[in-house]
Amino acid sequence: MRKKVSFLGAGNVGATAAMYLAELDIADIVLVDVLEDMTKGKALDMAEAAPVFRFNCRFTNDFNDIKGSDIIVITAGIPRKPGMSRDDLLFTNQDIIGSLVKKVAPLAPDAILIIVTNPLDAMCHVAHEVSGFPKNRIVGMAGVLDSSRFAAFIAMELDVSIENIQAFVLGGHGDTMVPLPRFTSVAGIPVTRFINNERLNAIIERTRNGGAEITNLLKTSAYYAPASAIREMAEAILKDKKKIMPCSAYLEGEYGIRNMFVGVPVKLGSNGVEEIIEVELTESEKEELKKSVDSVKGLVAAMKGRS
Ligand code: NAI
Ligand code: 2OP
Repeated sequence: MRKKVSFLGAGNVGATAAMYLAELDIADIVLVDVLEDMTKGKALDMAEAAPVFRFNCRFTNDFNDIKGSDIIVITAGIPRKPGMSRDDLLFTNQDIIGSLVKKVAPLAPDAILIIVTNPLDAMCHVAHEVSGFPKNRIVGMAGVLDSSRFAAFIAMELDVSIENIQAFVLGGHGDTMVPLPRFTSVAGIPVTRFINNERLNAIIERTRNGGAEITNLLKTSAYYAPASAIREMAEAILKDKKKIMPCSAYLEGEYGIRNMFVGVPVKLGSNGVEEIIEVELTESEKEELKKSVDSVKGLVAAMKGRS
């Protein structure tokens, strides 16, 4: 039976991710957005690329086609503009994600939800509460993007192949995210052997501000790297790869954190988040993670305060 991936939100990130996934030819694609003509146009444009890319997946745009999806990728909502933080999007996107998840959960009760809309970890909470889905079937995309940015900056700094870099980022998807040099390597050799503390701290700061750096240039948020991160997660799930990657997942005591979505290394396979991988942190890493978790907590409390 053919797999099906639905994209709720066919803007920059959603449509780009749909196209990247189509190129893998492993699932049919449903592309849905409030902007119906734009969405139909994008799906048709992608379908017309099929003869060149030689993929066979089918594209549809009807909301009811979401029925029976294996994965639903949610990018619907507003992105940030220059000067806005991800948290400025909170209430608008809370309402959009809440109403969309309420509609799609009964249509695709066995789907895995990949949440992308910002502020990411807070939106995972909304999806979890509204869908009632088990925690393994709600996963947030952020860590793959953040660690991809960290890896790209290290490869640029050292002028080595990106294939040599393994980068590691923990925490919420915000300015308090925690890139961890101790678990970051170049061809298996600790990154600290190659880059001194001062330069490494500058790269960490650039990683934390990676989204804002692009928003300032594009006047909207990034989409090529985010879309490729979505593709990697969807592929791991559809192919049951059991691949370890950093994602926002619901923690129940891991890392000393309870009832929160936070970015941690997880094993992604056909059951979604199949395992949360815990690593021993130093006191200062724990302190940084706590700051990041506190900032997610603040957002969740603000959303609760409205209802
Ligand atoms: P965009 O504005 O290009 O696309 C958003 C789409 O959502 C628009 O086409 C809009 O019409 C649609 N939409 C709004 N309300 C809807 C509804 N009720 N039902 C269906 N569609 C609806 O924005 P972009 O750049 O694609 O970003 C989308 C979201 O993803 C933003 O919140 C952004 O901050 C977030 N993002 C998250 C990243 C992450 O690492 N987690 C990375 C990049 C973006
Ligand atoms: C990013 O990191 C805005 O979350 C988005 O590019």
